Amino acid sequence: MPSPAEELRKLQAEGLWRELRPLDSPAGPQVVREGRELWNFASNDYLGLACHPEIEAALVEGVRRFGAGSAASRLVCGTLPPHRLLEEALAEAKQCDAALAFSCGFATALGVIPAVVGKADFVILDKLCHACLVDAARLSGATIRVFPHNDMRKLGRLLASIRAKAAKARILVATESVFSMDGDLCPLRETVDLTETHGALLLLDEAHGFGVLGVSGMGLAEQEKLQRRVTFQMGTLSKAAGLSGGYIAASHGWIDLLVNRARSFIYSTAPPPALAHAALASLRIIRSAEGNALRQKLRENIARISESPTPIIPRIIGSSESALAASSALAEAGLLVPAIRFPTVPRGTARLRVSLSAAHPPQAIATLKAALAPLHGAT
Ligand SMILES: Cc1ncc(COP(=O)(O)O)c(C=O)c1O
Repeated sequence: MPSPAEELRKLQAEGLWRELRPLDSPAGPQVVREGRELWNFASNDYLGLACHPEIEAALVEGVRRFGAGSAASRLVCGTLPPHRLLEEALAEAKQCDAALAFSCGFATALGVIPAVVGKADFVILDKLCHACLVDAARLSGATIRVFPHNDMRKLGRLLASIRAKAAKARILVATESVFSMDGDLCPLRETVDLTETHGALLLLDEAHGFGVLGVSGMGLAEQEKLQRRVTFQMGTLSKAAGLSGGYIAASHGWIDLLVNRARSFIYSTAPPPALAHAALASLRIIRSAEGNALRQKLRENIARISESPTPIIPRIIGSSESALAASSALAEAGLLVPAIRFPTVPRGTARLRVSLSAAHPPQAIATLKAALAPLHGAT
């Protein structure tokens, strides 16, 4: 039996060692790490809301009004007014009957997918789906099929062949609106058309679309006017919303089933009510004129450096070691840009992952652009 030390040595030899490197400042657009001031191009705070004074004040007010913790799971006595208000506001924003809040996005996936499909069913995943969707699909016991990234012909063929063999099975297609490590979009209209044609369900993870895309920041489904045709609109409050928490928006029937079956919802203490209260403030800002102005600023910041449709800009480097070296060199230049390695991305595609925020000043982006220019690799 290998010891932990042996396992860790192997990781180190492959350039895959990970360690915690705490910040000594709030997680704003500029941070302090190991005594050094860095422009933060590593976080997912796309609108700069993680340190927004109104959201901070709402969190404090939430603690004063509702206490520090919820003290029980949602179904026992852990549902307080802000939880319900947040779910109602999310449902309305997502043009759905209902919504359910979870402690984080990962827990949302782990709760929802196994509640929806089981042994006799099928989950079809895009090859680049986030770990939470992959793990949730495995946990469900359903048969898993994977299609090459954004390959709609292959998705169509898979759906047709599964449907031909299993007329009554549930088939759940799970994909992301904005792919977290590549920053590209899924072809949502084709995905929706295909799932409908073959009587499949669709789970769309809007983790990186929420707050960023759509006229009111509700994501790609809103941008494409497809919200009513997506069975499960999933997302997280831990990225553009600046807090933490996950949600799913769906029909009454599905949400009632999740309340009865989603184990990460049922068997887990409810998130602090103050967090839900603050999330309501964040949601209000995201959907307001201020949110629109922040999205406009974010789009301008993206255009300063790339043609990406999203604030996630990968620079593929190749080997883990080279990506780590590039990240260290950028840190020397005052820029925090993480090296993303296997298993987060496929082997041989280690990369720098730049994420932009509306809170970045133009000068910081100009510095980043100049520092990235001499690096080998494709954006
Ligand atoms: C695509 C995607 N889905 C889900 C999650 C999980 O969300 P959370 O951080 O709220 O657990 C993440 C982020 O970590 C993500 O990138």
